[in-house]
Amino acid sequence: MRLEAKNVSFHYGKEKIIENVDFSLEQGEIVGLAGPSGCGKTTFCKILAGYENPHSGTITINGLSIPKKGYNPVQLIHQHPEKVVNPRWKMSKILSEAGVPDTELLESLGIKDEWLTRWPNELSGGELQRFCVARALGVNTQFLLADEMTTMLDAITQAQIWHAVLEIAKRRNIGVLVVSHERKLVEKLCSRVIQFNTNK
Ligand SMILES: Nc1ncnc2c1ncn2[C@@H]1O[C@H](COP(=O)(O)OP(=O)(O)OP(=O)(O)O)[C@@H](O)[C@H]1O
Ligand SMILES: [Mg+2]
Repeated sequence: MRLEAKNVSFHYGKEKIIENVDFSLEQGEIVGLAGPSGCGKTTFCKILAGYENPHSGTITINGLSIPKKGYNPVQLIHQHPEKVVNPRWKMSKILSEAGVPDTELLESLGIKDEWLTRWPNELSGGELQRFCVARALGVNTQFLLADEMTTMLDAITQAQIWHAVLEIAKRRNIGVLVVSHERKLVEKLCSRVIQFNTNK
């Protein structure tokens, strides 16, 4: 399996954000995406996951366009978890969007049972993010885009979550894109790193 972006360009209004980018992520590969704030990392993730359409170029898996219906094999873990959960749903319901939760996974992410009956606004940002990570790891996930996944966490929790995610990625042969400002983290985790530069 290969997730591939070919000659992708994107702009908001007249402002060019991404220009002629080629990128590929193989199954089981851990690749970094680094670059200054505002250079288009999150935008690129949204394009890869199909939430935004590129203005030119293509996104494919094994040469085929990504299905718009059904489970998205390219899962995005958002930089701001509070923006991507329904505030009117309790955590157990939010979690079940990805199918029946895997209790071993919940445990490895440090998700406590008592959090399941809470509303999203009754959790800290880091606690909420763990649910978003678990939700993104449904059984049909083939590629995971981790956009500043652990930026809001302390070093120990950050290590715990990355350990759990990389373990499951290895076991299920998931390709992971690690997006982070923290060059050190990216270099530690990834076999190669793509650098975006601001073109403003
Ligand atoms: N919906 C939007 N409409 C207009 N401009 C946008 C929109 N979303 C993002 N932008 C702009 O596009 C540029 C790229 O944003 P993006 O969120 O992709 O950057 P980023 O590299 O992820 O930054 P950060 O490291 O701060 O998360 C920024 O200048 C931002 O202001
Ligand atoms: Mg971003």
